Amino acid sequence: MKEQLVTKKILKWYDLNKRSLPWRKNISSQKRQYYTLVSEFMLQQTQVATVIPYFKRFIKDIPDIGSLSKVHNKKLIKLWEGLGYYSRAKNLKKTAQIVVKNFKGKLPNDFENLISFPGIGSYTASAILAIAFNKPYIPLDGNIERVLKRYLYLKKDKEIQKDNLIKEKFIFGMSSRSGDYAQALMELGALICKPTNPLCYQCPISNKCKSFKKKDFNLTKNIKKNRDKYFLLKVYKKKKKYLLIKNTKFNFLKNLKIFPMEELSKPKDFNKNLNFKMSNMNMNIKIQYLKNSEKFKSPFWVDEKKLYKYILPSFTKKIVKYLERN
Ligand code: ADE
Repeated sequence: MKEQLVTKKILKWYDLNKRSLPWRKNISSQKRQYYTLVSEFMLQQTQVATVIPYFKRFIKDIPDIGSLSKVHNKKLIKLWEGLGYYSRAKNLKKTAQIVVKNFKGKLPNDFENLISFPGIGSYTASAILAIAFNKPYIPLDGNIERVLKRYLYLKKDKEIQKDNLIKEKFIFGMSSRSGDYAQALMELGALICKPTNPLCYQCPISNKCKSFKKKDFNLTKNIKKNRDKYFLLKVYKKKKKYLLIKNTKFNFLKNLKIFPMEELSKPKDFNKNLNFKMSNMNMNIKIQYLKNSEKFKSPFWVDEKKLYKYILPSFTKKIVKYLERN
C-alpha cells in the first residue's frame, strides 16, 4: 500500500511520541484481540489515564475471553467499580458469552458480526477491526474528529455532520499499519490537536492544516460580537400600568417578562432612545407609545410604583425607569 505523505508524517510522529499503554504492548494476536476488546469498552466513556489501572487489574484477574464469559457478576462489577457506566461491563460479558458460544471463543473480524454484539457500535467495531485485526478502518472518535475538523477547517453545520466527516476522513489516507494508524490519529488529537491550546508547533501536519494557516482553532463558527440590532419597543400604558409579555425572542431572557418588541432590519433614520449591550448584540431601541394594545398571549400589567416587588429582568426594569423619567 502506497502511503500518502500525510499518512507517513502522522505515523512517523506516532512512532516517536506514542504513549506506552498496556493495551499497546507487543503481544500475541489472540491476546491483542482480547486486550483491544476490553480496552475499547473501557475507553468508550472514560479517559486513557483513568482506564490504565482498571485495565491492568481487569486483565490480571480475567486474563481471556473464556474466563470473562464465566466471571461472576459480583467480581465483574467490583473490577469496574469507579469507571461508571456499568452497562458497559455487563455488555462486555454478554459479548464474551456470544463469542464463546457462537464463534469458538474467537472474536470475529468483520464489521457486521462485531456491530451485532451488545455494547459495540460503529465506532468500537471500527476500532477493534483496525487495532486487533489491522484492517483499514479509521474509527471516528472525538480526537480524530477534532483533527479532521481543524485540518480541513470544517465549521458549518453541514460540514460537521457525522455523514460528512465520514466522507472527509479519507483525506487521511490508509496505511498497511492500520492498527497503528488508527491509534496514531487518536494520539495526535489527544496530545497535540487538543481541544484548547493545540500544540501546532509540534504537529507533523501543521503545514497543510487550514486552521493553522488561518490561525483560528475554534471548532465552531465565530459568533459575531456586538452586532447592531434595532428594535421598536411598544409601550402600552393603562392606569399607570405597563403591559409586559413573556419573552420568546431572546434566549438569554427565556420566559422572563419584557416589553413587546419588534425587530427592524437596517432601518433608516433610526433615532434610538435607549441602547443596551447584551449577549452578543448592540441593541438599539426606539420607543413607540401606543394606545390600543394588540392582542398578546398572557399579558402582564406592571404597576410602575410596585416595580421592586416583581421578579423582572433588569433590562425591563431599566426601561420602566427610563419611561418614568421621560
Ligand atoms: N480511545 C479509544 N481507543 C483508544 C486507544 N486505543 N488508544 C488511545 N485512546 C483511545
